[in-house]
Order: sequence, then C-alpha cells, then structure tokens
Amino acid sequence: MRAKSSKTRIPLFDLKVSAAAKKEVAKTLTSGWLTSGPRVAAFERAVAKLLGVRYSAAVSSATVGLQLALRAIDIGPGDEVVTTPFTFVATLEAIMATGARPVLADINPDTLNIDPDEIERKITGHTRALVPVDIAGYPADYEQLCAISGEFSIPVVSDSAHAVGSAYRNRSIPRLADASVFSFYSTKNLTCGEGGMVVSKHKTLAETVRCLARHGLTSQAWTRKTGSEQTYDAVSAGFKANMSDVHAAIGLGQLGTLASDQKLRELLAMRYLENLQDLPELVELPTIQRHYRHGWHLFIVRLHLSALKIDRDRFIHLMAARGIECGVHYRPIFELSYYRDALGLSPQYFPNSAYAGRRVVSLPLYPCLKAGEVDYVCECAAEILKKNAR
Ligand SMILES: Cc1ncc(COP(=O)(O)O)c(C=O)c1O
Repeated sequence: MRAKSSKTRIPLFDLKVSAAAKKEVAKTLTSGWLTSGPRVAAFERAVAKLLGVRYSAAVSSATVGLQLALRAIDIGPGDEVVTTPFTFVATLEAIMATGARPVLADINPDTLNIDPDEIERKITGHTRALVPVDIAGYPADYEQLCAISGEFSIPVVSDSAHAVGSAYRNRSIPRLADASVFSFYSTKNLTCGEGGMVVSKHKTLAETVRCLARHGLTSQAWTRKTGSEQTYDAVSAGFKANMSDVHAAIGLGQLGTLASDQKLRELLAMRYLENLQDLPELVELPTIQRHYRHGWHLFIVRLHLSALKIDRDRFIHLMAARGIECGVHYRPIFELSYYRDALGLSPQYFPNSAYAGRRVVSLPLYPCLKAGEVDYVCECAAEILKKNAR
C-alpha cells in the first residue's frame, strides 16, 4: 500500500473558491448594492444559458425553490405528489410545506433513482406532480417520466439539487422537466455558499416563483431604485426567499470553472471505477450509461453485505481510522422518525430503498481531490473489504 502518514486526512468534501469568485464578491461588496439586483439577474441568465432553457428564478435555497415551483403550479392541500424515499429530507419537506401529501414510489436498485413502474402504481385521481431526484447527479429516467407525465397530464418538477452537470440523452434536465430545481449549497458542484434556482421552459412558472420569493410583490427594490419600475403590488402572500447579489457573485465566479471542475470530477470517478473494478463480489459500483451524463456530485458505492462480516457503519468507521471520511446518502425517508410517523411509512413497502439504505457509502469526490488520494481511498477500501469478506 502507498505510504501515507498517520496524519492523512481525506475529507468527504472540500472546496476551493475560485479567484474569479473572490473578485466578483469584492466587486459586489463595493457596488453599493448587496441584495437581489444586477448580479442575481446576471447569474439567472448565465445558469439558464448553461442549461439551455430560457427562464430561471434564483432563490435562497433549493428547498424553498422546490416549494415555490410546486406552489407555482398550484400544488396545495388535498393534492398528492409522487416522489422517492431515497432522498434528502428537503424534497419531502418542500412538498409538505405546500400542504400536499408526498406519496413515495420505490427506487430502481441499479440507479437509486425513482422507478417509473412504481410511479404508475402510485398515481391516483389526486396526483398533481411528479418529483424525481437525480441522485448523486445520475439523471432519473426522463424518457419514462415524460411518458407518464404526458399520459396522465401530471407535471414533472425535478429535484435536480445534485445535477447541474448532468444530462439525459444530450439534453439538460430542465429541457425535459416542467421545472428543475438546483442547489448551490456549499458542497454542490456549483456553489454560492447557499442558494438555489428554479429553471424552466415555462415563462409563467419562473415568473411566479420569482414573485413568490419576494413576498408576492410584482417588482423588486433594485428595479424601483433604477427607475425601470415605479411601484409595486402584492398579488399573493409570498415568502422571503430571494437570493442576494453577494451569493450570486460567488456563483458567477464559480461558473467560470464549472466545466473544468466537472471534467475533474469525471476523471476522479473513472479512477475510482477502475481501481475498484476487481471487487465485484464485495462492492457494487455506480451505474453509468452512454446516453446519461453523470454529474458526479457524489460517488456512491454499495457494499455486498451478504459477502461481508461487517456492516456499512463498521466499514465507515474503519475508513475513518485510516483518515478517510465517508458519508451516507441517504438514510431513506421512512427510517426518519418524523416522516415515518407523519406519513405512516414502513420499510416493507420500499424494499429496494430499504436495502440500498443499509449498504450505501459515499466516498470523497470533489475537484481538488488528488488522484493519489483516490488511490489511497481505494487501497484502504479494498484492504478492509478483503479482510472482512466471509
Ligand atoms: C436531493 C436534495 N434535494 C434538495 C436539497 C436542498 O438543497 P438546499 O440546501 O439548497 O436547500 C438537497 C441538499 O443537499 C439535496 O441533496
């Protein structure tokens, strides 16, 4: 094994803020305007262009972005929204904040994404939206999702928090869904520190989100200050969920390195795949397919528990003892007490998610991770797995 000092520490996540982002922020700080204004407008245009759609509304987080996108298509009490149990709590939180009921459809065990056949089984007369999650940056099955959406006239609002670098059959996800919601949280492939964006091919949807995010007002302070709008009306009770120009400045700067960052993520992911390919009986690697562009937000492997004498948590502990931080994305929603009790959930109805939830491990993946560090992670993982094979 390659020598590593006892001080070796490879975190699950690390971030280098680009020089361009620092410059954009410094410029914004001396501009005399820190809240939503010209930097937010520029960031909205840049992200929409990157993703090949016309409309976008920046918000303070993907969580609120999901909630507002659902509100914008009139989702509310009495409605059902079909989503996956294999996601972060934010997906469920956003649906429930609209007053709608989340209905969970199990995942495809190979991709960890919602299984379209399961969705069809969950559709009722009350279903008003589908919320797939592009887990780890691997796109959900949009061909089938769009077919279901068309057949039942149910819009697709994708939780694409992980998927700014992803594409399905050469098309970005917002070109397929009715609205897609991206996260710019610190650990995400494109970051503003905190923030999110609703991106859509539907103008009214994006404009409604923008309006809801500024208290339901028809104009914003910046456009009134600069004279392009004189007054405002409140057309709805809204939310305080706007993005600030300071956050947008970080995002604008980080956009400059997104393409090279994605390339680095891909190269590192390929290195993981190559290094770990000889252990198929002990660990299952992420699925890749030619017509899917994986965004490589996370590198999630699945342990073959029946071939091992240790469980997933013990594996993570043994990796930590070697200075490597691993993660769990995710504990399925039905295992979390609030959601289990509030929605009356039980793992037996979601066997694929329940099984995945016991065996998933996220290995470190970020652009400033070194190839040698990937090798060390793989060497340690292989050593632990082989030592604890049945
Ligand atoms: C799948 C998923 N959806 C939504 C979110 C929420 O993103 P934000 O922190 O921007 O609200 C996250 C955040 O990690 C996520 O992983």
